[in-house]
Amino acid sequence: MPLPDPASGPERPGDPRAAGHSLAGSGGFVRSGKVRDLFEVDGRLLLVASDRLSAFDVVLPTPIPDKGRVLTGLSRFWFERTADLIPNHLLETDPADLPAGFTDEAGLRELRGRMMLCRRATVLPVEVIVRGYLAGSGWKDYLRTGAVCGIKLPQGLLESGRLPEPVFTPSTKAEAGHDENIGFDAVVDLIGSELAERVRDVALQLYWRGAHVAEEAGILLADTKFELGVVPQDTGTPPSGEAQTRKDQLAQGELILIDEVLTPDSSRFWDASDYEPGRAQASFDKQFVRDWLETQAWDKTYPGPALPAEIVSGTRERYVAAFERITRASFERYLQEDVVAP
Ligand SMILES: Nc1ncnc2c1ncn2[C@@H]1O[C@H](COP(=O)(O)OP(=O)(O)OP(=O)(O)O)[C@@H](O)[C@H]1O
Ligand SMILES: [Mg+2]
Repeated sequence: MPLPDPASGPERPGDPRAAGHSLAGSGGFVRSGKVRDLFEVDGRLLLVASDRLSAFDVVLPTPIPDKGRVLTGLSRFWFERTADLIPNHLLETDPADLPAGFTDEAGLRELRGRMMLCRRATVLPVEVIVRGYLAGSGWKDYLRTGAVCGIKLPQGLLESGRLPEPVFTPSTKAEAGHDENIGFDAVVDLIGSELAERVRDVALQLYWRGAHVAEEAGILLADTKFELGVVPQDTGTPPSGEAQTRKDQLAQGELILIDEVLTPDSSRFWDASDYEPGRAQASFDKQFVRDWLETQAWDKTYPGPALPAEIVSGTRERYVAAFERITRASFERYLQEDVVAP
């Protein structure tokens, strides 16, 4: 029997359409992803990171306080630290920059630290993944075929082993079910060769930048997923008579980095001090809650079990630790002053 889709329907925990949600009365609601609520604001996109936590692909009924602020603060840090590599979608983070009447006082307080007002882009139809270590589906593919996404790797690599060099390992963006790893050829088919090459090159540069900064904080960036989008170029002249294909339109637009960047939700972070190839590594942030979930009689389908208070606080501490170690900023200061600073 098909299960209800947790990503649709207003019954999902935290959905702004639900009565009592502080953004319930706000205008322009577009939709909710697993973690973010999307609004349209004067032609721009407002992304609001909620405190929802998904584990084993299920959004749990218990939020982790301030988790959305950790994700947003980290993304703000990375957008700044990668702006020399690629432009990004971020325009404003201050609720005061929203049009008057968008939401009420409670809504504005809720938005602080968790909102990003963004340029709206056409999202590329591929998951832009880079791996520096062999874990998850990369490890599974390697065991089966000796390659990941068609990239042949040396023999004898260990689980969680460091790759000779980071590799671009794209996957499909599945509407339902799990994403599937694909080769570079398949990316070329989807978005054209010129854009595919630009995407691969910038993804590898972003990975290097992220891995370097994380490593200085004692965190290994095992792998990470970026989302890239294209903003149509405003040429000022109407399109020529020839019908443009979708690929041409993508290739001619401005390629930008969108969504969230190098956060615990989009990346596998490992504590360098516990790192030991030859086995699975504990994830820096989510392992704690995953370990507890494994002790529960739960079949990993929607809805998941409610989390006890000590699991909520332990998970929150780990997300905050990831923020503070990577950014070297104080999370308390982020909450108080809405700045990413020591
Ligand atoms: N600048 C942008 N323009 C258009 N869409 C964007 C932009 N930035 C992020 N998005 C989209 O907003 C959504 C963010 O929501 P969230 O992270 O909760 O989604 P998800 O659970 O990862 O995926 P899904 O959308 O499949 O539920 C994603 O679908 C992402 O592609
Ligand atoms: Mg997402």
